[in-house]
Amino acid sequence: MAYRWKNDLTRADATPYDAFVNRRQLMGGALGLGLIGAAGMGRAQEAGELVPNTYEDITQYNNFYEFGTGKADPARNAHTLTTDPWTVQIDGMVDAPGDYTMAQILEAMTIEERIYRFRCVEAWSMVIPWNGFELADLLNLAGVQEGAKYVAFETALRPDEMPGVRFPVLDWPYVEGLRLDEAMHPLTIMATGIYDKPIPNQNGAPMRLVVPWKYGFKSIKSIVKITVSDQEPPTSWNKANGSEYGFYSNVNPEVSHPRWSQANERVVGGSLFAGRQDTLMFNGYEEEVASLYEGLDLKANF
Ligand code: MTE
Repeated sequence: MAYRWKNDLTRADATPYDAFVNRRQLMGGALGLGLIGAAGMGRAQEAGELVPNTYEDITQYNNFYEFGTGKADPARNAHTLTTDPWTVQIDGMVDAPGDYTMAQILEAMTIEERIYRFRCVEAWSMVIPWNGFELADLLNLAGVQEGAKYVAFETALRPDEMPGVRFPVLDWPYVEGLRLDEAMHPLTIMATGIYDKPIPNQNGAPMRLVVPWKYGFKSIKSIVKITVSDQEPPTSWNKANGSEYGFYSNVNPEVSHPRWSQANERVVGGSLFAGRQDTLMFNGYEEEVASLYEGLDLKANF
């Protein structure tokens, strides 16, 4: 494969969780908190650096409809999900199909930190310091067979542990899919942690997909099944509303959602002055991923 991935964000750009907590304690009750934070963030943005959201932003403002459709519902309800033991079934066009325990997967993978922009189709964004491994490494462990073209993913479906699945908001279980070259791209990871802590249930424990150049709904949570195939797999939001949510769902400021513009985004958290910012083509990963879509009409294939 031709591309080598370089991280434009380093650990130095992150607000370590401990420092964040300490700063909050130091400034607790201080009237100037918002203003001090705003000044710091403004300078960082001017310098072109990305400042990760706080642990609190990332873990208290979520979409995980299996636990409710409100942004605070997953943090409130997802503690009921049993994530240990956890097994991921890998099947389809692979040399070694089977049930892989989370322990086996973690044993075989190298966990690293990736600080990525995260852009939801609802036009809000964060920057998240994930811990995880490249999906390509897991697929290579299973051995992708000749002729495979797509990878399908499925979330656990446990009515006893997931209060949201009583409601037919989506056709459960939540499913997603990628083209094989997208799945094998070095930017595509399986996240198992945030800020060097195990990934919380509301963010998709014990393992969730992260595809940073696509809208957030492609980043399917709490995965129990991965199927390699030669057929484009169905995806939950496309099934729910095919005219609004396509298979590709690449972040693209020039292709509006039928009901709102995607040209800019609300920065979650931060400060009083963080406000909105322009959305970047492929969410800022154009250099790394544009070649995947050469010759493809990105308006027709939204
Ligand atoms: N995965 C499942 N299983 N169920 C969901 O409702 N929501 C998606 C995605 N993965 C969702 C999911 C959407 S719309 C977004 S924006 C992201 O998860 C949100 O991830 P976060 O809560 O970790 O920020």
